[in-house]
Amino acid sequence: MAVAGALRDDALRGKTIVVTGGGTGLGRAMATYFLRLGAQVVIASRKLDVLEAAAKEMAADTGGEILPVVCDIRDSGQVEQLLAKSLERFSRVDALLNNAAGNFISPTERLSANAFGTIIDIVLKGTANCTLTFGKHWIAHQQSASILNIVTTYAFTGSAYVVPSAAAKGGVLALTRSLAVEWGKYGIRSNAIAPGPFPTKGAWERLLPGDLAQQFDFKKRVPLKRVGDHQELANLAAFLLSDFAGYINGEVVTIDGGEWLQGAGQFSGLEAVPGDLWDDLEKMTRQAKS
Ligand code: COA
Repeated sequence: MAVAGALRDDALRGKTIVVTGGGTGLGRAMATYFLRLGAQVVIASRKLDVLEAAAKEMAADTGGEILPVVCDIRDSGQVEQLLAKSLERFSRVDALLNNAAGNFISPTERLSANAFGTIIDIVLKGTANCTLTFGKHWIAHQQSASILNIVTTYAFTGSAYVVPSAAAKGGVLALTRSLAVEWGKYGIRSNAIAPGPFPTKGAWERLLPGDLAQQFDFKKRVPLKRVGDHQELANLAAFLLSDFAGYINGEVVTIDGGEWLQGAGQFSGLEAVPGDLWDDLEKMTRQAKS
């Protein structure tokens, strides 16, 4: 069953939202929903052809106003240009969605210093570049605004085999909470979303290449026994950027069907106990008491 949009039609009308990595995958899904809710949207990434094709389709699908801007978020000069072009087209920017990321799986001892640094540069420094550039603009213009960072549930726990990403996302979460406090006085809210498995072509091919996707059936790891629907993530992102969430600041909202807690609970593995064995187990535990 298709997941419906959660917010009323004009929930983001009048807002301009910049979405990094907005031309593909989850960024595109969120940006498309913002357009449906009346926002003006800027999508930014490194590849002009991908961005332009996406912008055309997204405008046709939603009737919304969208501006594609080429920007490598690792380069602060290009991020300045992203802000300048957004202002030139839409006069103001109300929100920044730090969604662009880079990741690949690897045993950490196989990584070169440059490989580790490349992920930190995109995820942590790229997010910081965008946050600083837009934040300074908002503070200078005494404009309230909102920052939303896409992290991951392993930002809380760390994760083997994606260690640079885990370190960078942990940093982005610290950035989110720190600025929620420091920039709250300027009317700038900072929040994060920690998604669990939401399949996209790009991430799945990088993170689960070959038949790993079959071997690692994410559906089995999630208490709700399914992966996320892109619209479910878009609903949450739109809410957090909307005025309805005006008092939410410094929060990270997990949207993973319960996946990360299942991994954390010491007894969650008892899921594997067949139903009829529980009668015997109950007898044994009651006997142990007497
Ligand atoms: N295993 C080990 N090292 C790897 C690697 C892998 N699978 N992929 C890349 N690297 C290393 C490279 O060898 C290079 O290190 P070196 O110079 O010491 O050899 C370093 O990482 C940088 O790689 P390069 O391809 O030059 O970087 P890039 O900036 O062109 O690409 C990536 C960045 C690697 C993150 C690329 O996957 C990308 O552009 N991803 C964007 C999209 C994305 O990842 N989205 C998130 C999906 S979850």
